[in-house]
Amino acid sequence: MNPLHRVARWAVNRKLGNLRWEDPGRLAGGVRPGRSFLYIHVPFCESICPFCMFNAHKLDRRSTQVQDYFAALKQELLMYEAAGFDFGAAYVGGGTPALVHEELAEFLEFVRERFDLAEISVEANPRISNAAVQSFQAVGIDRLSVGVQSFDDGMLERLGRLEAYGTGAEIRERVNRLLGRFRIVNVDFIFNLPGHDPEVLARDLEIAVSDGIDQLTTYPLMEAQQNRHYVDRQGRISYDLEARLYKQVILPALREHYTPVSSWCFSRKDKPEIDMLDEYVVDYFDYVGIGTGSMSLHDGRVSVNAYTLPLYQRLISRGELPVVLESAPLARRDYMLYYLMMALFGRRVNCKQFEDIFGVSLRRALWPECAALRAMGLVYAHGDHIYTNERGMYVFLMILREFFTHVNRFRSLAREASRKLEKQHLPEPQLAFEPVAGALD
Ligand SMILES: C[S@@+](CC[C@H](N)C(=O)[O-])C[C@H]1O[C@@H](n2cnc3c(N)ncnc32)[C@H](O)[C@@H]1O
Ligand code: SF4
Repeated sequence: MNPLHRVARWAVNRKLGNLRWEDPGRLAGGVRPGRSFLYIHVPFCESICPFCMFNAHKLDRRSTQVQDYFAALKQELLMYEAAGFDFGAAYVGGGTPALVHEELAEFLEFVRERFDLAEISVEANPRISNAAVQSFQAVGIDRLSVGVQSFDDGMLERLGRLEAYGTGAEIRERVNRLLGRFRIVNVDFIFNLPGHDPEVLARDLEIAVSDGIDQLTTYPLMEAQQNRHYVDRQGRISYDLEARLYKQVILPALREHYTPVSSWCFSRKDKPEIDMLDEYVVDYFDYVGIGTGSMSLHDGRVSVNAYTLPLYQRLISRGELPVVLESAPLARRDYMLYYLMMALFGRRVNCKQFEDIFGVSLRRALWPECAALRAMGLVYAHGDHIYTNERGMYVFLMILREFFTHVNRFRSLAREASRKLEKQHLPEPQLAFEPVAGALD
C-alpha cells in the first residue's frame, strides 16, 4: 500500500469512525424538510452474487413479498411528502429493480404524481426482459444501468454470474439491443479481483468502446461483511494492482472516446446530452433513501433504514419512519470536507456554489486542504471552478473506495440494530397499510 493510500484510509476511517450514533429511541422527532434527491432501494434479486456488498434478498414470487414491499415504500414516501420534502430526481437501486418492473413502474407513477422529477435512473441485470424495457420506457426512465461486470466467461464464472446471467457473448448481445432505447445506457464493470488479468480488463473495455456504450462505470472491488469469505477465497486484494489497472488499462482505453464524469464513471464524448451521473451523492448534496437498508444524508445527519424486510414493514405499518440508526449532526467543517471530497470525485468543485451553501469561500474555509491538493498536483483551478486532473482521479477513486468500504460498516451496524429491534416484541406485520399522511406533523 503506497503512503498516499495509507493517508486516505486513515483519514476516511478517522472521520467516519468518529461519527456518533444516537440512540434509536430518540429518532421519533422526525425530519426537517428540504429539496433532496430520492434514492429508492429495491432489494430483490434472482440469485445472490457472492461478491455483492448491497442489501439484496432472493425474490420469492410465491408470496406477496413484492406487493407488500411496494405498499410500504408508498407509505414511507407519503411520510416524507407529509413532512414537506420535495424531490427533484430519483435513483432506483438494488438489488435488481428491473426484476419487479410492473410494481416498480406503478410505484414510479405514484412518485411522479407527487414530485416533479427531472431524471430517473434504474438498475437492471443483463437478463432484463422486453416487458421491463417497455414499462420503463412508458414511465420515462432516463438512464438504465446494467450490471455486466465483465464480458469474459472466466471472470463471470469467478464472480458467480456465468450460470445466472449467461456468457459474455450473450450479455454483449443483450446490451447492444438496449442501446438507443433510453437516453443513457450505463454498463457496470468490476475490476481488481485478486490476480485480475490486465489483458482481460483491456478486452472488456475494448468491446464496450467498440459497441459505443453510452456510459461505463468501473468499480474497484470493495470489501464488506457479507463478501468477506468470497474475497478471502479469491486471494488478497492488491491496491498496487488496482492502481495499475486503473492508470495503465482503464484510463488509456477510455481516454479517446469517453469523458470522465467521476473517477469511475465515463460518458461518451460524442453524446453531450449524457449528463447524468452514476453517483447521486456527487450531484446532490442532500439525499433521502427509502426502502430497506437505504441510507440518507439530510440536514447534516446520516441515517440508515431497517435492514431486514420484516422490521422495515413492521415499522412502516406502525406509521413510523423505519430509521434504525441516526448520527449526531456532522460538524460544519466535516460537512464542508464531505462536499469537497464528493465534488472532486465528480471532477469539479463549483466554488461559487460552495460559498452559496456554506456562506464562506472554499479557499478560506478549507485552505490547508486546498493548499495540500495543489501542492500534491491533484487539482487545477480555472475560473470559478477547481478540477481534478488524472493523477487526482485515482486519489479520489481510492478515497471513495475507502469511503464506501466504511459505509459498508454502517450497513453492518444497521443490520445488527435491526436484529436487536426485531427480537423485541413487535406486533405481527399488517400487510394492508392505512394512509399515514400527517404522521410526521
Ligand atoms: C446493486 S448492483 C445493481 C445491478 C444488478 N443487480 C446486477 O448485478 O446486474 C450495482 C453494481 O454494484 C457493483 N458492485 C456490487 N458489489 C460490489 C463490490 N463488492 N465491489 C464493487 N462493486 C460492487 C456491481 O458492479 C453492480 O453492477
Ligand atoms: S450484484 Fe446485483 S444481482 Fe448480484 S446480488 Fe448484488 S444486486 Fe443482486
